[in-house]
Amino acid sequence: MSENFRLNNGLEFPKIGFGTYKADFNSIVNAIENGARYLDTASFYDTEKLIAQAVKATGIKRGEIILASKIWKTEMGYENTIKAFNRTLENLETDYLDVYMIHWPVSDILNLSTWQAMEDLYSQGKIRALGLSNFLPYHAETLLSKCKIVPSVAQFEFHPGHTQTFALNYYREDNILVQAWSPLARGRVFDDKLIRELSDKYNKTQAQICIRFCIQEGVMPLPRASTVERVKEMFECLEFEIEEYDMLRIENMPPIGWGGEHPDRERVKI
Ligand SMILES: NC(=O)c1ccc[n+]([C@@H]2O[C@H](COP(=O)([O-])OP(=O)(O)OC[C@H]3O[C@@H](n4cnc5c(N)ncnc54)[C@H](OP(=O)(O)O)[C@@H]3O)[C@@H](O)[C@H]2O)c1
Repeated sequence: MSENFRLNNGLEFPKIGFGTYKADFNSIVNAIENGARYLDTASFYDTEKLIAQAVKATGIKRGEIILASKIWKTEMGYENTIKAFNRTLENLETDYLDVYMIHWPVSDILNLSTWQAMEDLYSQGKIRALGLSNFLPYHAETLLSKCKIVPSVAQFEFHPGHTQTFALNYYREDNILVQAWSPLARGRVFDDKLIRELSDKYNKTQAQICIRFCIQEGVMPLPRASTVERVKEMFECLEFEIEEYDMLRIENMPPIGWGGEHPDRERVKI
């Protein structure tokens, strides 16, 4: 298995990213100091400024870190997107973004005008890869049929018990890298019988089974963790392998459902 994921536009991303929803300054510094080089944020998370401060505090060079952010529903449309993007750059104290994504699908018209602005920013070299977040195949169809620049990344909820295989296969076909949000299911899957059994079998934590499962599915996990030990645990997932038979068992375990946010439903919990 190669060390990085290669995108459809040639960029390379590490096998594990770090999520910053609800992260604080210390946990972002922790993550960077213990190996995280890909930071996932969004204007909605309110962590863009924290990331800028954390990157500065660690002394890591801009070129050595991959920054991904997302445009929120209320910021969409051509002109608004340019403004939102510039705010994000300002918050992150940078002059380019590695990845910029539409956070949630809204309507085809707004999705498309937003995408056009993102394509223009991409063509100007201000964004290195474009992405869609929370677009299930039927949300993405129109955009994919009309875009000039195809997305390189698609991010949606993905973890044992909720793999959204139809979406996974859809994006795989177009060589679009799938990223897993809530790859640990925010802990909801840790007590599952199979995950516990595999944790014992491989002598790894349940969180490590979840992260390794993503990687072997060709999906980039974006876990969030607050302690040094947990961040170290994350990166240890690069060093073991789940057998094919056990991968099949995880793929087919009983569904646990989505975690409170779904593109076609009201948000039911945080
Ligand atoms: N595109 C979207 O709409 C969207 C939606 C949701 C999330 N995301 C992205 O995905 C990232 C991750 O998702 P998430 O934060 O929802 O959930 P997650 O990564 O599945 O779970 C995070 C939770 O797991 C705990 N945890 C971490 N490592 C652990 C370990 N080794 N053992 C036990 N517990 C552990 C963390 O606790 P501690 O922090 O206390 O360590 C935290 O409470 C977000 O931060 C965000 O960047 C994107």
